[in-house]
Amino acid sequence: MKFAVGFLSLIVIIFQVKCVSAEDESQACMIKILKEKELLNEDFSYPRQPTRCFLAAIIITAMEDGFYSKFDNEEGINADCVKSELKKKNLVYHLIKKDIIESSKTLSEEEIKSLLNENKETMKSILNSAAKACKSDDKWGGIFDDVLDIKNTTHAALESNYCCLKTSIDKNLIKIENIDVNPYNFDTSNVDCNAIIENKKNDIVRKFRAKYNESGLSQNKINCIVNNLNESNFFDTTIALKTLEKIDLEPFVRAENKRKLSNKIEAGITGIFSCMIENY
Ligand SMILES: *[C@@H]1O[C@H](CO)[C@@H](O)[C@H](O)[C@H]1NC(C)=O
Ligand SMILES: *[C@@H]1O[C@H](CO)[C@@H](O)[C@H](O)[C@H]1NC(C)=O
Ligand SMILES: *[C@@H]1O[C@H](CO)[C@@H](O)[C@H](O)[C@H]1NC(C)=O
Repeated sequence: MKFAVGFLSLIVIIFQVKCVSAEDESQACMIKILKEKELLNEDFSYPRQPTRCFLAAIIITAMEDGFYSKFDNEEGINADCVKSELKKKNLVYHLIKKDIIESSKTLSEEEIKSLLNENKETMKSILNSAAKACKSDDKWGGIFDDVLDIKNTTHAALESNYCCLKTSIDKNLIKIENIDVNPYNFDTSNVDCNAIIENKKNDIVRKFRAKYNESGLSQNKINCIVNNLNESNFFDTTIALKTLEKIDLEPFVRAENKRKLSNKIEAGITGIFSCMIENY
C-alpha cells in the first residue's frame, strides 16, 4: 500500500512538472480525452492512434489533485471555493490543451498562435470569474502570471528570471539562438546567481521531501530518491522547464525546448524506481 501511495504521488509530482509527456502515445490519449470533453475539435490530428487510455485518465485525476493542492497554503486564495469552481470549468484540461497545441507537429505556426491565444483567453476568464465568485485573490499569488499576462517586474523577480535563464543556457539545458538574457537591462554585476539557484533548488527539494513524507515513504527511500534525482540533474532541469514559461518565446521554440527537457526528466525518473522497490 505504501508503495502505491508513494508511486501515485510521485506521478503527480512529475506530471505537475512536465504536464504532458512528450511521448506520442500519452499525447494521443490526452487529445482523445480533450475531444471527449469537447475542448478540442474532432478533426484535431493524433500523433498516433490512441490506445489503452485508462492510465492517462488516472494520471489526469491525480494531476488535478496535485495541481489544486498548490492553493492550500496560498494566502488570499479561498482554496476550497476556487478548487470547486476551477474543477467545474476544467481549468486543468485547458492547461493540458496548451501543451498539446504547443507541441503539435501538424498545425501551422499561425494556427498554433491563434489556438493558444484563444485558449489563454478562456483560461483568463475562468480564473477571473473564479476569483470573483470566491472573493479570492485575483492575482492568484503569482501562480498564473503567464496565463494572466502579469509581468512580475520586481527587482527580485527580474534577478531570479535572469539567473534561471542564464544558468539554464550555461548548463546547455535551454538552447535558444540570439536570446537577450537581460531584456530589462538591469545592473547584474552584483547578482549572485549561484546563491539564487541554490536557494531555488533547496526550495524544490524541501517541497519534494515534504510531499513524499506526507505519503508515508521512509526517510531512507526519500533520501535515495532525492540523491538519484540530483544525480540526473532533475532539479536543474525543473528550473529550466519553469523558466521557459516565464520568458517571451515563439511557441515552437518553447515547445522544442520543453520536449527535450521532458525527455531528460523522464530519463532521470527511471533511476528512482530502484528506490521504490528496494527494501529499506
Ligand atoms: C514577484 O517575484 C518575487 C520574487 O520571485 C516574489 O517574491 C513576489 O511574490 C512576486 N510578486 C508577485 C505579485 O507575484
Ligand atoms: C514526516 O511526517 C511525520 C508524520 O506525518 C512527521 O511526524 C515528521 O515530522 C515528518 N518528518 C519530516 C522530516 O518532515
Ligand atoms: C546534488 O549533488 C551535488 C554535487 O554532487 C551536491 O553538491 C549537492 O549537495 C546535491 N544536492 C542534493 C539536494 O542532494
